[in-house]
Amino acid sequence: MHARRRTVLTAGAAGAAALTTGCGSPDGGGGDESSAPDSAGAELARTSDVPVGGGTIFKDRRIVVTQPADGRFKAFSAVCTHAGCIVSSVGDGTIDCACHGSRFSITDGAVEAGPASRPLPAERITVEGDSIRRA
Ligand code: FES
Repeated sequence: MHARRRTVLTAGAAGAAALTTGCGSPDGGGGDESSAPDSAGAELARTSDVPVGGGTIFKDRRIVVTQPADGRFKAFSAVCTHAGCIVSSVGDGTIDCACHGSRFSITDGAVEAGPASRPLPAERITVEGDSIRRA
């Protein structure tokens, strides 16, 4: 009997190979490489952009970086956990959302004032010298 039917799915490996970014020429021309994509390792801010006891909101990256104490940096999602607005300002130790007035701690993202009920999720960052990067 040869009613054997075999379905072999060879997923197109050719498609995955199209993602080569071949910029490997060691030109050594002292180029300025400041166009890193927004991904792990990309510079987010300079430490001088973030005030001590306050923070800075990077709306386009949906992240807020704070400095609760001198030299101690934290980062949180800038998307309010109440209804999804991007938080609007940082002051008096809190990250504030103008949509309905929620406030979150700059230290750990905890809710300081509602209507939000969940904290802002932390984002991982690393600080090297005066550069703050996504971890
Ligand atoms: Fe931020 Fe409502 S969306 S308080």
